[in-house]
Amino acid sequence: MSQAKDHNNTALMEKIVSLCKRRGIIFQSSEIYGGLNGFWDYGPLGAELKRNLRDAWWRTMTREREDVVGLDATIIMHPSIWKASGHVDTFCDMMVDCKTCKGRFRADHIGGISCPQKPSKCVADCAGEKTEPRPFNLMFQTYVGPIISEENVAYLRPETAQAIFAQYKNVLDSSRVKVPFGICQIGKAFRNEITPRNYTFRSREFEQMELEFFIKPDEAIEIIHGVVAQWSEGADISEPRANWGWEMWHRYWVEERTRFYESIGLTRDHLDYHWQTPDELAHYARACVDILFKFPFGTEELEGIAARGDFDLSQHSDFVGKYQDFFDEELKAAAAKLTDEEKQVLMTKKLAEAEEKTRKLAAKDQREASEDEITGAKAKMQTWCERLFKGFYIPHVIEPSAGLDRLALAILCAAFQEEEKEDINGKKEMRTYLRFHPRVAPTKIGIYPLLKNKPELVAKAREVYRMLKSDLNCFYDETAAIGRRYARQDEVGTPFGVTIDFETLGENAPELLDTVTVRERDSGAQSRVPLSELRAFLLARMQ
Ligand code: GAP
Repeated sequence: MSQAKDHNNTALMEKIVSLCKRRGIIFQSSEIYGGLNGFWDYGPLGAELKRNLRDAWWRTMTREREDVVGLDATIIMHPSIWKASGHVDTFCDMMVDCKTCKGRFRADHIGGISCPQKPSKCVADCAGEKTEPRPFNLMFQTYVGPIISEENVAYLRPETAQAIFAQYKNVLDSSRVKVPFGICQIGKAFRNEITPRNYTFRSREFEQMELEFFIKPDEAIEIIHGVVAQWSEGADISEPRANWGWEMWHRYWVEERTRFYESIGLTRDHLDYHWQTPDELAHYARACVDILFKFPFGTEELEGIAARGDFDLSQHSDFVGKYQDFFDEELKAAAAKLTDEEKQVLMTKKLAEAEEKTRKLAAKDQREASEDEITGAKAKMQTWCERLFKGFYIPHVIEPSAGLDRLALAILCAAFQEEEKEDINGKKEMRTYLRFHPRVAPTKIGIYPLLKNKPELVAKAREVYRMLKSDLNCFYDETAAIGRRYARQDEVGTPFGVTIDFETLGENAPELLDTVTVRERDSGAQSRVPLSELRAFLLARMQ
């Protein structure tokens, strides 16, 4: 980024932060005590914005789909969940301390120390000598019950996803779902980030919106359908098909999630994609794409969509000693028709894969896999094949995982507009407004009597407010000149204003009795709408 562009983007971010504070969208948490780094509160308008985003996600991901159900799990769960998921042992950032300024930094943010997981992003820092990088677990720890002891340690969840895996069997047994299906959840997550930064972008407390979409392993598809539909450029991924393999599902979810962003006002131009390279991928992941948003401070991750194989459910199966699996009638029937030779071919292939994977994993630790490890992996795979032929498998997972706070920030950045305009005296002034999509705008309608000292206008405006408020979040405002009131609502992105004037009362032009002026935020265009049609007129424009 050139220095001038960098400067403009910093200035733009400062304007957005200032608007958010001034108009009650985002406040620093605990501000009266000096704030707490990495924690943010949402004011009256921010709370509405977040709620609208949350609702839009929930509606799109579950209510409008027959194949996804919801979950609302606790923040503190059994600590073994985090052992099984790998978070206790590996959910770490490498950090370094500066011996001079005593600052603590993520190793991958300091120039000169390279981290293979993340590209190096050099942060401003004193040139002091640094300690060797060491792991720092990002989970917040607490104790359950009155005794502070090792046995009572628990964690604030660092992601919502694990609750979905832990409740997979309960959902399966209590709902009419069959693989492929998904479970989604929205909720708080906590990470003790070493360097919270970029406003709310990397916080220590934030909300996630996650879907775990369970699919058949490709081997089951092959047995049932003879062939697995594989991804190739131009393949039709608009509607799910029974013979899709994991890659088709993964591509489908990338497209679905992009369509969701478009539906709430982020265009494809705002977004970018990062397909993780084999070096960046977690050992269990087959693919992972980050959907990025072009923030003023850089193009950064908004959502990750990972093909996680059967890693999580297998881990929980191993830890609880009970298969977190699915019985597939169709697979059982199709497998019964396989010849012994066909079964043997599949088994041989899978055993070879198990051996190769074990060797590769060991190689990552710069060692050779032992005979015991290889025998163990092959025995596990043999059981897996035998269970598959009986119709059982642990489903594979495609996981679209988004951050609600990051989305709110992206929506704010995309909506922020400044344009020069002339006031009624021809004087140039800067107009600032938020061009929110009506679906997510915190306030949908401003309602204004033209004058506050005319009781008939005020009474009529109040009547309009009462008529609309149960369907649309309205803001009633009778203070200041009408132009000023419009500007105030434009600044917080209210898409429509309804003005009750003398024509509404039948004065001046009797044919305009019981009509109001509807003003559109972006263009300023005004139209006259009969009161009897107003509700339907506005509701139609919220879509
Ligand atoms: N279950 C997978 C998972 O948690 P992740 O990439 O670590 O994956 C998913 O997180 C999303 O959660 C990110 O794309 C981001 O939107 C959001 N997120 C993660 N850490 C965050 C933080 N410290 N502050 C705000 N949002 C965060």
